Amino acid sequence: MRLGNAPNFTLSGRLIRWLASLSLAVLGCLCLGVFFSVKANLENQQSLRLQKLSDAVQHLIAETPVHQQSGSLEHDLEDLLKINRDLHLRLLNQQGKAVFISSPVAWPSKARTHALTFPEKTIQANYSLAELALDTSPDDAILDRLAAILWGAALIGSAAITMGGYLIVYFGLAPVRTLAEQTRNLAISSLDKRLETGRIPAELKILVDQFNGMLDRLEKAYQQLEGFNADVAHELRTPLANIIASSELALRSNEPKEHLRDYIGSNLEEMRRLSGIVSDMLFLSQADRGAQARRKPIQSLAQLCGEVVDYYEAVLLDADLSWKITGDASGLFDTALLRRVLSNLLNNATRYAYQGSRIEIRIARGPNGQVSIAVANRGQTIPPENLQQIFDRFFRVDPSRNDGSQNHGLGLAIVSAIARMHNGEPFANSANGETEIGVRLAS
Ligand SMILES: Nc1ncnc2c1ncn2[C@@H]1O[C@H](COP(=O)(O)OP(=O)(O)OP(=O)(O)O)[C@@H](O)[C@H]1O
Ligand SMILES: [Mg+2]
Repeated sequence: MRLGNAPNFTLSGRLIRWLASLSLAVLGCLCLGVFFSVKANLENQQSLRLQKLSDAVQHLIAETPVHQQSGSLEHDLEDLLKINRDLHLRLLNQQGKAVFISSPVAWPSKARTHALTFPEKTIQANYSLAELALDTSPDDAILDRLAAILWGAALIGSAAITMGGYLIVYFGLAPVRTLAEQTRNLAISSLDKRLETGRIPAELKILVDQFNGMLDRLEKAYQQLEGFNADVAHELRTPLANIIASSELALRSNEPKEHLRDYIGSNLEEMRRLSGIVSDMLFLSQADRGAQARRKPIQSLAQLCGEVVDYYEAVLLDADLSWKITGDASGLFDTALLRRVLSNLLNNATRYAYQGSRIEIRIARGPNGQVSIAVANRGQTIPPENLQQIFDRFFRVDPSRNDGSQNHGLGLAIVSAIARMHNGEPFANSANGETEIGVRLAS
């Protein structure tokens, strides 16, 4: 599995972009909040002042006798407005004509206004409506300046946060750069090297541990591959050398033609052995690539074992061995592959069983539904340290004890591969002079 090729982006670039957008958004919202609360405050104050003036005007008009209204009242009103230069007043008579304007030249163009009508029955002789205006241009100027300052602060603040964030991200990602540098220095020739885990943050440690674990497996697989190549070469060399030697001898000899048949016969035997090794290796490589068993219903595994044992009867009798099949089970299995498992196990058991002893074929169904098929024989115990290795390709506990030209150490590797093709596993026990080797299969 390969990690997808994402479009070119850097982690730091992405973090910085997010940080810049976030800080601008947060500071922008803050500034808008400040701006609108100041604006609301100012507007509130403007309304209050207009209301106060309105009350004062109303009071003055009510208090002043009608005949003094055009004289002392206007004088009082002008005094009142002198203290509040940004406030303006216009008094209209019943005909709608302005009879008093506090400052006719400076009536504000931008103003907050308030109208004060005098009720019919209390209408004073001269006035029916008072118009009040508050010049808002100084407040508007304050608001404009505040808006500019706040926008500037938001932009400068977000730039400062982004710069700070960039430095934090740059130094924070230093361990990642160190790891990238170390990974770049790994080569196929230095598979024994590992990434350092000493000063790595906890978040990256998991990744580094996984990576180092993968390197362990890679190194092991590489060593196995190298060993496997050497084993294959070694196994093929002897039969090929025999074929070459016997062919050269046949070519050089002056023996009669009939003797040539012997040479051809021996060559044929070696070639059959070679062909056997090659087809075993082909089978193993197919299993490695995930080939699965072709399952069909089998009613009685004991019957299937009986058929394979019948095939081996002559060999068993020749070795003075008796046999017994215990247990039975049914299920979905690949018949041809199970025959091969039994044949390989019986072949080994016959070779390693003590003369005159009994071979037992045990069939059982486990508690988790798995079916186990095992062949047990009395014979020399396999050392515990070799018990798992016997399923490795070309492994033989004691190569000198075997007939190297006949047995290549592939039989149990094939048993193990067939177990995996049935989603199962091989197993081996060897103690007190009894060896039991078999497979557990998902039925
Ligand atoms: N029943 C057994 N008792 C004792 N040792 C065994 C038994 N079965 C297997 N072994 C050991 O396990 C090794 C591997 O067995 P395996 O069947 O893979 O290879 P082989 O029998 O040597 O060769 P091949 O099966 O290719 O002819 C054997 O060489 C032998 O040392
Ligand atoms: Mg074998």
